[in-house]
Amino acid sequence: AHISFDASKLDKFVHDNELGEMQALVNAADAELRNGTGAGSDFRDWLNLPEDYDKDEFARIQAAAKKIQSTSKVLVVIGIGGSYLGAKMAVDFLHDTFYNYLPDDQRDFPQILFAGNSLSPSYVHDLIHLIGDRDFSVNVISKSGTTTEPSIAFRIFKQRLIDKYGEAEAKSRIYATTDQKRGALKSEADAEGYESFVIPDGVGGRYSVLTAVGLLPIAASGIDIDQLMTGARDAMNAYTDTDLTKNEAYQYAAYRNILYRKGFTTELLENYEPNMQYFAEWWKQLMGESEGKNEKGIYPSSANFSTDLHSLGQYIQEGLRNLMETVVFIDKPNHDIDIPKEDGNLDGLQYLEGRTMHFANTKAFQGVTLAHTDGNVPNMSVHIPDQTPYTLGYLIYFFEVAVAISGYLNGINPFNQPGVEAYKTNMFALLGKPGFEELGEKLNKRL
Ligand code: PA5
Repeated sequence: AHISFDASKLDKFVHDNELGEMQALVNAADAELRNGTGAGSDFRDWLNLPEDYDKDEFARIQAAAKKIQSTSKVLVVIGIGGSYLGAKMAVDFLHDTFYNYLPDDQRDFPQILFAGNSLSPSYVHDLIHLIGDRDFSVNVISKSGTTTEPSIAFRIFKQRLIDKYGEAEAKSRIYATTDQKRGALKSEADAEGYESFVIPDGVGGRYSVLTAVGLLPIAASGIDIDQLMTGARDAMNAYTDTDLTKNEAYQYAAYRNILYRKGFTTELLENYEPNMQYFAEWWKQLMGESEGKNEKGIYPSSANFSTDLHSLGQYIQEGLRNLMETVVFIDKPNHDIDIPKEDGNLDGLQYLEGRTMHFANTKAFQGVTLAHTDGNVPNMSVHIPDQTPYTLGYLIYFFEVAVAISGYLNGINPFNQPGVEAYKTNMFALLGKPGFEELGEKLNKRL
């Protein structure tokens, strides 16, 4: 496999026979997933997506990306949850750390900025300020087409496009990614003639990064999305064997369930690269929405190292012992830097002369793994060779297939998210949306 999963530090927590004991359960989970006999089987189209996608639409995405690049300095991507995190994490992961901070003349492709993932007026104000009078386009993404946060942001940025370019050109700068048939955004896109892309019925929000949801913003930022799909396709073919000694994605799913049943109920996804922070945010949604239901599930959290070693590190080392850790470690970073030679040794770093920052980062990772293991926190790691689109595609698929198996191992439907609706409904009612009057009255009495 292109990436490798390392469970060698789990000896202390998992007995020799335990992985093998999971094999029968994993076989059953695999059958539920592959044969569609498990809960939520209508939402499994992400499984074959790296091969089975709409090639014409893919070409349209690439053409739209080119058009955005030639007409805009900024692409405002409007969406929330699964309609946002995949693109955000991929753009961060695949570009220079400060890609979005570079002046326009030092960036070959548009700045990718996000809106509609909060209701903060200050954020929108500041984003408008940041765009200034530069040319921009908007990619509005919502599967339901009715989510309040992105809908409000879209109104605001649509208005700004109209003010800046007039109605006709504004329409040509709006790209809508939504359901094939349903929802307010679909109706609006049809009525106004926006270029539209489809979120396939059988792909839930958090599994949608390899559809137009993620692909258009990622391609607009100049990334080779063919490579992304190729990586995912290779992972798709690599993770089909149910044998736990061979399938590392299934192995990861099995180990985290073994640990969960021993009381390690929170998993921290960790990195040693600041531009992987949003990878963890994407992962948290994937894991949390898939597994947190029926009053159970591993709670997904994250930490960014070394930063959080100096904040959360104390808790991880010595706090409540319900934590497990999974590190995604990059074996060959995009860049490495020598630790400089200096006359004298006032800072005490002479012993590191001739070494590189990556060497130090690797030793930090190894030292932390052993320290946390000694502190009774089970540690797993996923090694990735680099930060290329191919590797990211591979990694995305690794976690997607792992959480599907993991969810079935824990006896839940890994593809629905009924809990997300509760707040949405309350918000509609409190905002006075037609059709929600009765609930609105009840809720207002409780406030
Ligand atoms: O995974 C999910 O389904 C959710 O997180 C959605 O992506 C999120 O609620 C946004 O919904 P929508 O795309 O319908 O606006």
